[in-house]
Amino acid sequence: MSIQKKEFKKITTLVLLEMKQKGEKISMLTAYDYSMAKLVDQAGIDVILVGDSASNVMAGHETTLPITLDQMIYHASSVVRGIDRALVVVDLPFGIDRALVVVDLPFGSYQGNSKEALASTIRIMKESGAHAVKMEGGEEIIESIKRILTAGVPVMGHLGLTPQSIYKFGTYAVRATEDEEAEKLIHDSKLLEGAGCFALVLEKIPSKLAKRVADNLTIPVIGIGAGPNVDGQVLVIHDMLGINTEFKPRFLRKYADLHSIITTAVQHYVADVKSRDFPNEKEQY
Ligand code: KIV
Repeated sequence: MSIQKKEFKKITTLVLLEMKQKGEKISMLTAYDYSMAKLVDQAGIDVILVGDSASNVMAGHETTLPITLDQMIYHASSVVRGIDRALVVVDLPFGIDRALVVVDLPFGSYQGNSKEALASTIRIMKESGAHAVKMEGGEEIIESIKRILTAGVPVMGHLGLTPQSIYKFGTYAVRATEDEEAEKLIHDSKLLEGAGCFALVLEKIPSKLAKRVADNLTIPVIGIGAGPNVDGQVLVIHDMLGINTEFKPRFLRKYADLHSIITTAVQHYVADVKSRDFPNEKEQY
């Protein structure tokens, strides 16, 4: 496989819409730093989400609530630098385009009012160079979404399990299993589309309900724990690479066991240092 600099197409919100129209599935993963963003971008991901799950997997908090706007901007700007330097990896069986970077508006940065929501969004866009923001919620945040859109910033919605509301839910269990919550979710999804969201994330809801939403909307619906009948899938990169061992929801597929690989590598390094095997003659000046 050879690596060379080459012209590449940017994934835009319009490209994602076309993908839905053509029935082409959208791939999305989280990334929070330069090196990982560079890797996933070069591997051909369509959308990089700078998720507030950084609060869990990067900072070790139990919930997504503590992460601040400044910290999200730090993660987002690192990610954007990673994709700006992207090379095209040729000889792969599919075209490689530059990923769209979407950033979560963190808890407390948009719930107050639409003016606050717009101010937080403008900081993210100006200071990180990202392409869009994501917000959790339905009817209650429509005014803020509209205001952000009038400033020209694309918004991705997020319904179902919305981790910023964990203390309201009291559990990370599957959402909208009862009719009333399912109907509200369908209603909210229509409102989000009507307000102008370019895409919608559905987290941890029954597969049948997710299909109903995806079939009803013209914008792409990207699922996490929402089954196969949506327009794309998203996972947290630490989970799918097997860096975390504790988090094992049914919807997660592990594509690697980096926990074992990293543990073994570190153990070898420690042993080599202790035994004076490292550094050897060739590894010094
Ligand atoms: O913060 C995040 O990683 C997310 C995904 C789980 C969709 O919102």
